[in-house]
Amino acid sequence: MAEERLKKILSVFEGKKGGLISILQRVQEEFGYLPQEALAETAEFLRLPLSQVFSVATFYAHFYLTRQGDHLVRVCQGTACHVRGARDILETVEHRLGIRTGQTTEDYKYSLERVACVGSCALAPIMLVDDTIHVQVTSNKVRQILADDQDAQKDKI
Ligand code: FES
Repeated sequence: MAEERLKKILSVFEGKKGGLISILQRVQEEFGYLPQEALAETAEFLRLPLSQVFSVATFYAHFYLTRQGDHLVRVCQGTACHVRGARDILETVEHRLGIRTGQTTEDYKYSLERVACVGSCALAPIMLVDDTIHVQVTSNKVRQILADDQDAQKDKI
């Protein structure tokens, strides 16, 4: 099944020159990350060394080589957020999710990342869950945000 999905993506690029980054973007959209087999297939398809495909995939921060959570939690660690307690916020999220920054929960519900300034310094500290921005976050608010998000997921079931 995954093989068919990958072949479908590659077929779009048949006969076209280049396209490595575009293919990787499409693969990540489809699978949520870049599976090892997809990198190998892509290398073969483009007649490139696997090492070249791998180095492009690891160069760009927006490409993931491991499966990510359904939801991405990001905690800003820029200067304004830092001076307003972003480190505590990040630790609270880590504790709450039971993972460290850069990791994904065992159930693949959440991945956690730190980010630099997201441009809302006046409302620091900032935390994002997917595209939803949470401002003036406190440790108590973190618990509420994650609890609300989990409740929202249950409602969808
Ligand atoms: S430093 Fe966090 S939004 Fe600017």
